[in-house]
Amino acid sequence: VDGVPPSLSAKVVGSFAYLTVRDRLPTILTKVIDTIHRNKNKFFEEYGEEGIQAEKQTIGLLSKMRNELQTDKPVLALTDTLQDAEYWNQYLQKQQKLQGDEESVSWFKSPWLYVECYMYRRVQEALWLNPPISDYDVFNEGKTQSFFESQQAMMALCTYLEGINKNMEDLSKNQLLEHFNKLLQVSLWGNKCDLSISAGQDNSQKTSPIDSLNSLQPFILVNDSNMVWSTLISAQRPGQSEKTTAVRVDIVLDNAGFELFTDLVLADFLVSSGLAHEVHFHGKSIPWFVSDVTANDFQWTIQQTMAANHKWMSKNGVQWKSHLKEGVWFYHDHRFWTQPHEFCDMAMDAPDLYATLQGADLLLFKGDLNYRKLTGDRDWDYTVGFSTALQGFGPAPLCSLRTLKANVQVGLQPGQGEKLGSQDPDWMTSGKYAVIQFYGSKSE
Ligand code: F6P
Ligand code: MG
Repeated sequence: VDGVPPSLSAKVVGSFAYLTVRDRLPTILTKVIDTIHRNKNKFFEEYGEEGIQAEKQTIGLLSKMRNELQTDKPVLALTDTLQDAEYWNQYLQKQQKLQGDEESVSWFKSPWLYVECYMYRRVQEALWLNPPISDYDVFNEGKTQSFFESQQAMMALCTYLEGINKNMEDLSKNQLLEHFNKLLQVSLWGNKCDLSISAGQDNSQKTSPIDSLNSLQPFILVNDSNMVWSTLISAQRPGQSEKTTAVRVDIVLDNAGFELFTDLVLADFLVSSGLAHEVHFHGKSIPWFVSDVTANDFQWTIQQTMAANHKWMSKNGVQWKSHLKEGVWFYHDHRFWTQPHEFCDMAMDAPDLYATLQGADLLLFKGDLNYRKLTGDRDWDYTVGFSTALQGFGPAPLCSLRTLKANVQVGLQPGQGEKLGSQDPDWMTSGKYAVIQFYGSKSE
């Protein structure tokens, strides 16, 4: 398309994309291989000799892929029969046309977003070709561990939430706004805790998340939270108990562990305050970018919360389970979230999902990968408007809650990016900075 900057790619030697493909992705693959190998006995106990064979062959396929990556071989078509394989293979053909020939669609020469997504899909292919271990989540151990390591912070958050819920009736509108902003920011900073950027190293939350908000304020580079609030307020319609007038918020989830917990706390508050009547969560249908939420992680997290040895935490868990049962909360997944497309392709590629999102009054997109897909993972100038970078995407008013972990950022003030770059060369990739960035398709 005319005027749209190129995709970020590892072909720019020394770029963050380059370093990721060269260093971080092979490290992640090595950890995946180790994890499968370490679980050999478990596979043997469960499936006997077949389990051992599956373990060997999966590791063989993964080592082969790691080698393809490291030697910049062409991207191969998928060979499994998972439902979405044909979409991936069509996408590959499209890339081959765009880039000229088959050889040039390779790990270092193609768009970074594409090859990074493709790597996680190939991990799934390796497992799929090897039943009985097809359903094994190679990232599960890391996700559950990060959940347990963040217990203290979760309890602190639950105590805070209990304090709000207890006095909900007496809160003034300003107090409500203040709590809203705090929980929105807790959910924002929850995004620091993902296992992909650190290649699986400890990234859990240990201190009280509410107490640190003030000191984190200066690191929010764009803060459109007032627009998020006014979107919710103007969505309120009389006759609130009816389905047709219910205010609906959709949260496109990112990571399991502490981040998911902060999203659930925010969703709890939205419902208990009456700001929203329905919350729809969108997760991934396969293990993705190390720590992203799957249906299994979502259910597991709520179970664990219910079982917690902390009065308010277990109370929340029970409440959340009943929200799901009563049709107040919903969990969805869709193949589109685990494909390599920019979101501006959604209306064409996944019209059913686009239509679903149109039913929301507000969409919250969590995390860095969603931001990359919102903006097409392109080499935009920092001052380009968010709406320009969205390239027509906007099924409903939307807000990105993201800590910066990749070098794409739009919507900054003139000079802001340059100044940050001179003070702090890693500002775009360290997760130290964040944005609450809003786009209102309907009225703004
Ligand atoms: O390469 C680092 C990285 O894997 C990015 O590719 C990705 O955008 C990010 O980390 C994952 O972050 P998040 O979980 O916030 O989407
Ligand atoms: Mg993630």
